[in-house]
Amino acid sequence: MSLKCAVQLGIPDIIYKHGQPITLPELVSVLQIDPAKTGHVNRLMRVLVHDGFFAKTHVHDASKEQQEAYVLTPPSKLLLKDKDPWFSSFVLRKLDPKSLSIWHSMGNWLLSKEHTLFELVHGMGLWDFISQNPEARKQFDETMERDSKVISLALSDCKPIFESLGSIVEVGGGTGTVAKVISEAFPRLKYTMLDLPYVVANLTGSENLNYVGGDMFQAIPPADAVLLKRILHDWNDDECIKILRNSKEAISSKRDGGKVIIIDMVINEETEERELTASKLYFDMNLMAACNGQERNEKEWEKLFLEAGFRNYKITPISGLASIIEAYP
Ligand SMILES: C[S@@+](CC[C@H](N)C(=O)[O-])C[C@H]1O[C@@H](n2cnc3c(N)ncnc32)[C@H](O)[C@@H]1O
Repeated sequence: MSLKCAVQLGIPDIIYKHGQPITLPELVSVLQIDPAKTGHVNRLMRVLVHDGFFAKTHVHDASKEQQEAYVLTPPSKLLLKDKDPWFSSFVLRKLDPKSLSIWHSMGNWLLSKEHTLFELVHGMGLWDFISQNPEARKQFDETMERDSKVISLALSDCKPIFESLGSIVEVGGGTGTVAKVISEAFPRLKYTMLDLPYVVANLTGSENLNYVGGDMFQAIPPADAVLLKRILHDWNDDECIKILRNSKEAISSKRDGGKVIIIDMVINEETEERELTASKLYFDMNLMAACNGQERNEKEWEKLFLEAGFRNYKITPISGLASIIEAYP
């Protein structure tokens, strides 16, 4: 909430536009806050400095007196609205009373028979809600596009994974951010992107990129490889096994068996940094609330692969919150 307050007041932009470290009185003055509240702004900034959103340095005022002043840190640079309004609006959206209200019902949901917390609160499942609510769909698409841009940067280091393939089908590719990046990087790769019909309805393909409307629980078009980015974490184990079995069927015509390429999180509490595990566990709680999905550790992934009939797999971490998992039949 302190961070939300700083974003609402535009404090990161004020510090940036100031062009040099800003002292507390200068900040209070630009904010046009009653000087009687200077102590309160000081305490707001103190907690945000402690959490790493801002840092403190020293400046000299006109009478050469040394004074403390605030500067931006990498997280608050992401919140600059003029540079890129996405992160600041994401903070405001995530901390909006409507978004937060769902969490107050978690206990009631656990005691109820309702499938997901989202259904208890909204009266319908996540995918139905997104398909019927244009604003929710826009926000969901934007969030996934952001993730895909970050992953696409990481994928440029993973060329060997795609190089040997003649064709690939990406399942649940959304607005096609990753599809465009990979199909352009590999012009000889025949790329098919499958998603629900309403999602692909207005997408235009290219020479080697084709969008197809369908349902991954029914059938997945044949190819040398299937790509599932941030798909399996949306579903429970039984649903994942169905998707993986359909993926295995899709790659069965490839002589050496093909592969399924999964981009998702792998929780590794034993060896990774505490903060990284914390982020993954919070994602996991979001998925539990939204759609009964889950983030998984290696053991949980392995169980899915074995039950779906895969014999081998390889995990390659590609960014803090994502790994590529290649599963082989
Ligand atoms: C979490 S999003 C991931 C989007 C994209 N892969 C990404 O990472 O940006 C899940 C995607 O699965 C799609 N989806 C949901 N149910 C599906 C189904 N039965 N068949 C195909 N796609 C489905 C959704 O429309 C959505 O685009």
